[in-house]
Amino acid sequence: MRTDVAIIGAGPAGLLLAHLLAQDGIESIVVESRAKEYVAARIRAGILESSSVDLLRSVGLGAGIEAQGDEHRGIYLQWPSERHHLDFVDLVGRSVWVYGQTQVQADLVAASEAAGRQVYYDASDAAPHHLDTDHPCVTFTDAGGAAQRIDAVAVAGCDGSFGPSRAAVPDDQRDTWERVYPYSWLGILADVAPSTDELIYAWHPDGFAMHSMRSATVSRLYLQVPNGTAVADWPDDRIWTALATRLGHGQDGWQLTPGLITDKSVLPMRSFVQSPMRHGRLFLAGDAAHTVPPTGAKGLNLAIADVALLAPALGDLVRKSDTALVDAYSDTALRRVWRCEHFSWWMTSMLHISGDPFDAQLQLAQLRWVTSSAAGAAGLAENYAGLPIGF
Ligand code: FAD
Ligand code: PHB
Repeated sequence: MRTDVAIIGAGPAGLLLAHLLAQDGIESIVVESRAKEYVAARIRAGILESSSVDLLRSVGLGAGIEAQGDEHRGIYLQWPSERHHLDFVDLVGRSVWVYGQTQVQADLVAASEAAGRQVYYDASDAAPHHLDTDHPCVTFTDAGGAAQRIDAVAVAGCDGSFGPSRAAVPDDQRDTWERVYPYSWLGILADVAPSTDELIYAWHPDGFAMHSMRSATVSRLYLQVPNGTAVADWPDDRIWTALATRLGHGQDGWQLTPGLITDKSVLPMRSFVQSPMRHGRLFLAGDAAHTVPPTGAKGLNLAIADVALLAPALGDLVRKSDTALVDAYSDTALRRVWRCEHFSWWMTSMLHISGDPFDAQLQLAQLRWVTSSAAGAAGLAENYAGLPIGF
């Protein structure tokens, strides 16, 4: 097969890149290792920044957000006996939207199918080749067991943290940075109306807790747990009791309403960056190049911001052999990536219990500052609601 851009991975980065390229008249073929149903069902991120929403709307992907998304002015930050609301709209003039990655993925799949774009699901052994030439290609085995090869002008590695693209960059031509955190999140999805109008991030001596949501009838909640925790150690009653304690059930009359838990999983937390985000004709985007711990709600938004930069750059390369934007892609993208890496690390470090009592006092001092100083609050708000795509 021959196309303009061969894309590895049909997550949000891969499918949105295919959509943006198509709008610009550039063809692509996407290769995905998982089944379509598996990709569609993955429960992941829940918050879209303003710039992500603006971008999705501007390319015809805003209908679902209008119909089912929920615009939030800000978040609550709390610790025992105190809860504070940060109003991002008042502080920095931008809001965020509750609209799950599952919904974003469904919108992207619907757009891809409506346009008849080629996506090979259930593909194995995907591998990029000849990346330091002008004629790169991707080989894979399709769902029927046949060997396939896509010749392209460029390859986009949108295959997440465990795909082959990141590792296709020779060791002596890449730098990597990593931080593994000494705790994980136990996440649940529950069929119960959220007990809050906006997200609650809670510091508590027993560990961090968060109350998020997916809709008026579905809640998403998280608890800090030690690494290596097994889901089986957390029966439903234990989860609701811990959430009630850490989120402050009874405090100033606030109540947490428990409900039927429909999904439980443990998520390890990691920060990771690989630089440069390009090797010859291979361009990395989204989790393939970087990972953040979820506390800042940045993972999905960073993937969207990367492909918003990459699509016009690849357009210029394919149409005009103009390399100015592809040459600038990695440095431009990494500026925002490192800003979000810092914000995600900072939110994580401020809110999770490390076991060190000195750390706990520093965290409380920081929380008091961001909730009482206009400058502190604006800094958090500016980063959480999101910087402009080209930052
Ligand atoms: P992905 O969504 O990972 O997509 C990559 C795609 O490539 C996948 O479909 C994968 O199957 C495919 N692929 C992998 N290997 C191959 C291969 N060999 N060949 C072909 N295809 C391949 N972020 C938040 O902001 N908040 C959250 O609460 C949150 N929760 C998360 C929970 C989990 C379990 C995970 C893993 C991530 C979570 N994230 C969260 C991060 C967020 O979901 C990611 O940042 C986002 O999915 C990045 O999109 P992506 O398209 O770059 O990568
Ligand atoms: C979620 O709804 O899953 C979610 C929201 C905010 C975060 C992380 C996860 O910071």
